[in-house]
Amino acid sequence: MKYKYCGNSGIQLPVLSLGLWHNFGDVDSFDTATRMILHAFDSGICHFDLANNYGPPPGSAETNFGKIFRDNLKAHRDEMFISSKAGHDMWQGVYGTGSSRKNIIASCDQSLRRTGLDYFDIFYSHVYDGVTPVEETMQALIDLVRQGKALYVGISKYPPEKQQLAYDILREAHVPCLLSQYRCSMFDPKAQRENFQLAHDNGSGIICFSPLAQGVLTDKYLNGIPDESRAARSTGFLQRSQVTNERVEAARKLGEIAKNRNQSLAQMALAWVLSDERVTSCIIGTSSMKQLENNLGTLSNLAFSSDETEQINRIINDPVLFF
Ligand SMILES: NC(=O)c1ccc[n+]([C@@H]2O[C@H](COP(=O)([O-])OP(=O)(O)OC[C@H]3O[C@@H](n4cnc5c(N)ncnc54)[C@H](OP(=O)(O)O)[C@@H]3O)[C@@H](O)[C@H]2O)c1
Repeated sequence: MKYKYCGNSGIQLPVLSLGLWHNFGDVDSFDTATRMILHAFDSGICHFDLANNYGPPPGSAETNFGKIFRDNLKAHRDEMFISSKAGHDMWQGVYGTGSSRKNIIASCDQSLRRTGLDYFDIFYSHVYDGVTPVEETMQALIDLVRQGKALYVGISKYPPEKQQLAYDILREAHVPCLLSQYRCSMFDPKAQRENFQLAHDNGSGIICFSPLAQGVLTDKYLNGIPDESRAARSTGFLQRSQVTNERVEAARKLGEIAKNRNQSLAQMALAWVLSDERVTSCIIGTSSMKQLENNLGTLSNLAFSSDETEQINRIINDPVLFF
């Protein structure tokens, strides 16, 4: 595994992290989930990305992670970097969603109980909710650190002006933002354009989610939508309508370039996200051991020639592909 420092901090993360948004809930195979987590850890993926609402049902990914951790990994806690987040809909009533102090503090307590952990390595504000003053949300994160419930804090999906405000408040409190989490893939360049430089200039690491556009940047959908796929599952976040002909055709063309690099399309798509020097890590989400193995193979070819970059850019610089 290759490790990189998170922005201006002493923390290193593996360039590939494992996310538990899909594939680790009660609707999924606990045996496969266990094998993927253990194999990831044995392969050097020491960073696991959770959130209160991951499942389904919401909360079950944390509960399942907690069981797997307790039975297999407890002795390795100090070798692991575990995150959680709060901000999206979680429980009923007005306090079960959003970025208020009430929701952030209660969510973190619930997530600690579900996972059985004593603390999270990083706790994020999952989303800017459009209403709560950033000051209130950041103070809640700062207090989680002061209370020993989190070692570091991060933000996710904040628009640029709120992102800068968050960095300023956190820096002032001597709890600098360790990581900024944004969606980024060959089909999703928005954050790279709007948020990455701000994060970098403020000393925050950058961690990217959905680097494979939820599977569209793999060979999975080249011949239609398979039954066993996120787009086909009723619990999947990827909609069938998002698997468009244009995206599938672009994936096919990109797959040809990947083949010439002796890589799968998934591997090339991950390498592309990591080729931005500002990026610390990308969070993969796998549904099988085979996918995990395949994605780990990315590390054997991370470089792009200028000719390859030009060919890729010719395909992906098309707004019709963007999520
Ligand atoms: N901060 C946020 O708001 C936020 C939002 C979303 C995600 N995240 C984090 O980012 C993580 C990753 O997101 P993601 O799951 O959307 O990532 P992703 O890597 O873009 O998509 C994962 C899906 O792609 C398919 N796949 C993965 N590797 C493959 C391979 N080698 N060959 C073929 N198909 C492959 C699988 O689809 P199938 O299931 O169809 O097999 C898998 O479930 C999440 O778990 C979460 O931790 C954060």
